Amino acid sequence: MKSTVTMTDNRTEKSYEFDIIEATRGPSVVDISKFYSETGMFTYDNGFTSTASCKSKITFIDGAKGELRYRGIKIEELTLNHTYLEICYLLLNSKLPNEEELQDFDLELRHRSLIHENLRHLFQAFPAGAHPMATLSAATAALSTFYYDHLNISNEASYQEMARRIIAKIPTVAAFAYRHSIGAPFIHPDIDRSFSENFLYMLRAYPGGKMHRGRNGEHIIKDIEVKALDTIFTLHADHEQNASTTAVRGVASTGAHPYVAISAGISALWGRAHGGANESVIAQLKMIGSVENVDAFIARAKDPTDEFRLMGFGHRVYKNFDPRAKILKGLQDQLKNELNLDSNLMQIANKIEEIALNDEYFISRKLYPNIDFYSGVILTALQIPTSMFTPVFVIGRTVGWITQWIEFKKDKEMKIARPRQLYIGK
Ligand code: ACO
Repeated sequence: MKSTVTMTDNRTEKSYEFDIIEATRGPSVVDISKFYSETGMFTYDNGFTSTASCKSKITFIDGAKGELRYRGIKIEELTLNHTYLEICYLLLNSKLPNEEELQDFDLELRHRSLIHENLRHLFQAFPAGAHPMATLSAATAALSTFYYDHLNISNEASYQEMARRIIAKIPTVAAFAYRHSIGAPFIHPDIDRSFSENFLYMLRAYPGGKMHRGRNGEHIIKDIEVKALDTIFTLHADHEQNASTTAVRGVASTGAHPYVAISAGISALWGRAHGGANESVIAQLKMIGSVENVDAFIARAKDPTDEFRLMGFGHRVYKNFDPRAKILKGLQDQLKNELNLDSNLMQIANKIEEIALNDEYFISRKLYPNIDFYSGVILTALQIPTSMFTPVFVIGRTVGWITQWIEFKKDKEMKIARPRQLYIGK
């Protein structure tokens, strides 16, 4: 028998029936696509707290349990046993690559990492000191001018090519955005370096590709740094229908070029309620300054008359520990002895976490540390400048956005995203 939900309009006592669609995991949904045609009313769901905007097979989150899966596989298993490029392949192809597939994928990404020389000139148009997120968003939109034939991106091979190209180029564009922001010469990607190592290289190298070496001639990009960054990229790779992915799908729904859809995702991610929180966490920890000041800031976060919020705390979906935050906390402990982790910032962060996890205000609202709470301390240890924290998030998330874009395109049920409103004006 078909499962349904019955709603009664108490004004007219008329009843309406709506189908329930079962999920393979997580909550079922009520199909209200005919709600308006049948009832003459819209539904109101500010912030989409109860609305599923699409059907998806990519990522699953159980917010109550604190569980995250890509293509059905738990994030803990993925970060432990697989590299970021394997995760990209998994998201795009619904299966992990074998050795040969991984090698081909890696090689192709290396070859595609260069950007067109004309795009390089675009950066000169931006003022010195421009935030890399603004430049990154603009330059990503500009990439669409080089690959303009988007109406022909309509079969599997063209989807995959378009996806691989953007995944490969975004780190280069992000690194150029940073180098421009500090007035440093651009460093082109080095085809002999892995995806994650190459990004550190493009941020750190001197012209001619020379790398600063330590006093003893040791390599300045350590394996442990590459591994840590690779894990950070994996943890950011996708997160179902968050604000930036919703922006990407919204633009996709109009039929615009996929790279301007990614640019919209980058813009949406910049805000501090979303990916921009990682930059704000470090700014906040620095503002708090010392462990002794933590109590005063916790009191401010709890004061309803004060707009101050603890950055890196709370999440729309996770009402338990963010599993990505747990992994990063473990990574932070591993790196403590190997890299120069800022012990003062770590102490302040640990104290905030300890208080918040035992405080009635945070417990009753189910506010736990999210991924951004820990990523900042680790990125600082990797010598990544604060302004590049959110671009790092972008690099990791590009595969998720583009996979969601492809899923949107293949879904025959999808329509232009066009919500309705409750008009309360004159
Ligand atoms: N500090 C203090 N109080 C908070 C915090 C916080 N970080 N987050 C939420 N609250 C409180 C709210 O004041 C509200 O309290 P009330 O019920 O007394 O009014 C309650 O918790 C619910 O908060 P909402 O804003 O309704 O929750 P929502 O799901 O809309 O917002 C969000 C989620 C935006 C992440 C929010 O928790 C927040 O602003 N956090 C700080 C920014 C941050 O870390 N963002 C990164 C999110 S992860 C990511 O995007 C990668």
